[in-house]
Amino acid sequence: MTISSRNQTARELHSGGSLLGRVKVPGDKSISHRALLFGAISEGITSVEGILPAEDPISTSNCLRAMGVNISRIVATEKVIIHGVGLNGLKEPDEVLDCGNSGTTMRLILGLLAGHNEKHFVLTGDNSLRNRPMKRVSHPLKMMGAEIQGRSNGNLAPLSITGKKLRGAVIGTPVASAQIKSALLLAALTAEGITTVIEPAPSRDHSERMLKAFGANLEIGGEMGRHISVQPGSKLHGQEVIVPGDISSAAFWLVAGALIPGSKITIENIGLNPTRTGILEVLATMGISMEIKNKRDVTGEPVGDITVTYKNQLKAFSINEEIMPRLVDEIPILAVAGCFCDGESRISGASELRVKETDRLAVMARQLKRMGAEIEETSDGLIIQGGRILHGAELDSETDHRVAMSLAIASILAKENSSLARSDAALISYPSFWEELERLRN
Ligand code: S3P
Repeated sequence: MTISSRNQTARELHSGGSLLGRVKVPGDKSISHRALLFGAISEGITSVEGILPAEDPISTSNCLRAMGVNISRIVATEKVIIHGVGLNGLKEPDEVLDCGNSGTTMRLILGLLAGHNEKHFVLTGDNSLRNRPMKRVSHPLKMMGAEIQGRSNGNLAPLSITGKKLRGAVIGTPVASAQIKSALLLAALTAEGITTVIEPAPSRDHSERMLKAFGANLEIGGEMGRHISVQPGSKLHGQEVIVPGDISSAAFWLVAGALIPGSKITIENIGLNPTRTGILEVLATMGISMEIKNKRDVTGEPVGDITVTYKNQLKAFSINEEIMPRLVDEIPILAVAGCFCDGESRISGASELRVKETDRLAVMARQLKRMGAEIEETSDGLIIQGGRILHGAELDSETDHRVAMSLAIASILAKENSSLARSDAALISYPSFWEELERLRN
């Protein structure tokens, strides 16, 4: 069922109160997808602890099952077991592969399938995904010899792929996108010759870390690790993966803890991979002090617990394209934070936000304006005047999970109660979000 077609009444959002206590956010979405995909094309068994039991990883697992991979059910608190079929072992499915709302599923699977010689696959998704750009992946894959067709000259799903013998290539990606990079690295595993992906700026590096751990022959070089080369020929071997908590889900509690008077929240087990921690840098410039404890390494990813406490008089922030890859999914909640800072906050270099699950710049500006925020959309960002009182309003996630959760935090800070249509969008990445919100509320 798609988010827009679920028959649901708007959720009541209560203003006021503080948030107190401890919370363990669910598993990292990016790492969960990768554990499933890499496990599927490995030899032997992969076990995954702490996988995100949400709709996006479930879309990935359903696609893999349709191609003959045995994967146990994805349920909270249970380890997921994947019986790998090897690098070339995926079967031609007798149904269309449905990637749901998940861009990561569609883009990474395109790379995974491009080299499955002479097998045919069709990929589709929900309304949102069928309108997101796929040429950024299909075009470089075609440079490696892939055969991919779709609407709008191969840009829009449904997409049809016929696996081909691929050639290694040197490919510069036009945007710093871990989805593009990861699709190419997956295709490179079975190509003839070395493939080098060169990014304009470093994007999240979970694929590199995990592919190496699974046994891929991968080298990282260039300034800030922007050149990633894969030498094909190595088989992947099943691993035991432990998925850290998702910093993109923790971001809602980090901002809520700092903004909502009287709050103090400890968020346990947050993934602190430096390619993802831009949100912490911005919160620090706002004057928020966070205590990071229990720093450790969990199957190749840094992890820690963070305590955040309410802080009066937050400084406005200004962020640009330099930091964007490190906090791309946190812009909706930062837009909320900007409404409560002293002065004008500016977000620029964020045009990628226009091609996420929704056009997040337009949607956040539209929804926060309903609450009385003074927020202006620019071509690649937002300008937000802080210090305006937000009022209760009839809000709508417009089907976007991160918008739903950002508006939930804004509504606590509003003067009156609000309502939120299509709040179930949160199921995409954080199924227990509403329960946790009520549990933390005082
Ligand atoms: C993701 C990468 C990012 C991010 C998305 C997940 C990933 O997208 O926004 O939520 O798992 O690789 P881009 O790679 O398109 O920036």
